[in-house]
Amino acid sequence: MAKRTIVSLPGDGIGRVVLEETIRVLNAAGFEADYVEGDIGWEFWKNEGNPLPDRTIKLLEKHKIGLFGAITSKPKDAAFEELSEDLKEKGLVYSSPIVGLRQHFNLDVCIRPCQTYTGNPLNFVRRGKDNSIEEPKVDVVIFRQNTEGLYGGVEWSDPPQEVYNALLSHPKFRLNFGNVPKNELSISTRIFTKKATARILRASFEYAKKYGYKSVTVCEKPNVIRETSGMMYKMAQQMQRDEYPEIELWNTNIDAQMMWLTKNPEDYGVIVAGNMFGDIVSDGFAGLIGGLGFACSANLGEEVSVFEPTHGSAPKYADYETSIVNPIAMIASACMMLDHINEKAISSKIKKAVAEVILEGKVKTYDMMKMTGKADVVKKGAASTKEMADAIINKL
Ligand code: NAI
Ligand code: MG
Repeated sequence: MAKRTIVSLPGDGIGRVVLEETIRVLNAAGFEADYVEGDIGWEFWKNEGNPLPDRTIKLLEKHKIGLFGAITSKPKDAAFEELSEDLKEKGLVYSSPIVGLRQHFNLDVCIRPCQTYTGNPLNFVRRGKDNSIEEPKVDVVIFRQNTEGLYGGVEWSDPPQEVYNALLSHPKFRLNFGNVPKNELSISTRIFTKKATARILRASFEYAKKYGYKSVTVCEKPNVIRETSGMMYKMAQQMQRDEYPEIELWNTNIDAQMMWLTKNPEDYGVIVAGNMFGDIVSDGFAGLIGGLGFACSANLGEEVSVFEPTHGSAPKYADYETSIVNPIAMIASACMMLDHINEKAISSKIKKAVAEVILEGKVKTYDMMKMTGKADVVKKGAASTKEMADAIINKL
């Protein structure tokens, strides 16, 4: 088979080191690929006024698969301050390049698995009967709609008159907000389309079917957010009835789901939600399996897909001479990439190696040792980013 080309997108801060170590693991596992580096992130904002240059878009258009580290984002004003002097006159406004990628390539299906590694010292434990300690095995895969909802960007402070007039036509608006001066209103919309809702639902049912999960849970709030959450749940009911009768459809409210997070996390399989609630519920479950050092994700579009750890660029660790951050989230994201492009044997091999290193418990990054992240953690016995990758490579 022809060698693959993967677009590597290191980005900022710790993005570069976790990606480098991950590529070392991929090579050691026998994955044959060429990597072309795509420019993305803060440097390109400062120097070019665009954190997602067109040449990077072109690379992804051509090669279809991106492996992304992390970027640094800053609020609008801070971003403007750091822009190079000659660009300051141009009226440029910063926007996050990862959100930009999701929107440009319509990467609308986000998958975030949260699966317990046996032996991980960060695993959630709870008190059982007679004060016993239980360590439930979490095996949840969250499907988050990635492009719409509260992240769709349709929002105003002091909305234009025509928007205000349209809102006034809604009886609830007149009743609850009709007396508020227009310039004291901030409005963020939550827009769901049938097409994207059907895509995220179908992706979640298909996944449950393929990997043998018994249930799909819609985690929204249809009793209160009747139109958007309501539409998603109704469409899920119809899809389950017509196409996936062998899979159970469960319905939870996001607030109750977070309360139950620690009560019965082992009961859930596939969970599907809109953009905001998907973000919340996936961070919640990630906390049960070790947090940001372990949380991986895939952003899938119809053509292009980008795989990335959930964590950001962790700037405070970026300049350490020896990097201390946990590369497992990035490595697990690369395994999702391998599964996606049908390199399942290599993916399984890497996942097995990661699981063995964690189970053995000899090599642990600072987060796994419950240390505060400081430059001296390696002297105190924590593995560096590279040592963790080496340990995984040794198990391959
Ligand atoms: P962050 O995820 O970068 O870091 C938060 C904390 O989590 C770190 O200080 C560290 O204690 C821990 N952490 C993160 N990754 C870890 C790893 N691999 N191993 C061990 N510990 C790890 O989030 P923060 O500090 O809120 O944001 C930093 C920058 O990253 C910001 O500019 C933010 O906008 C950006 N960001 C980018 C994301 C992306 O590229 N997709 C996602 C989240 C934040
Ligand atoms: Mg998040």
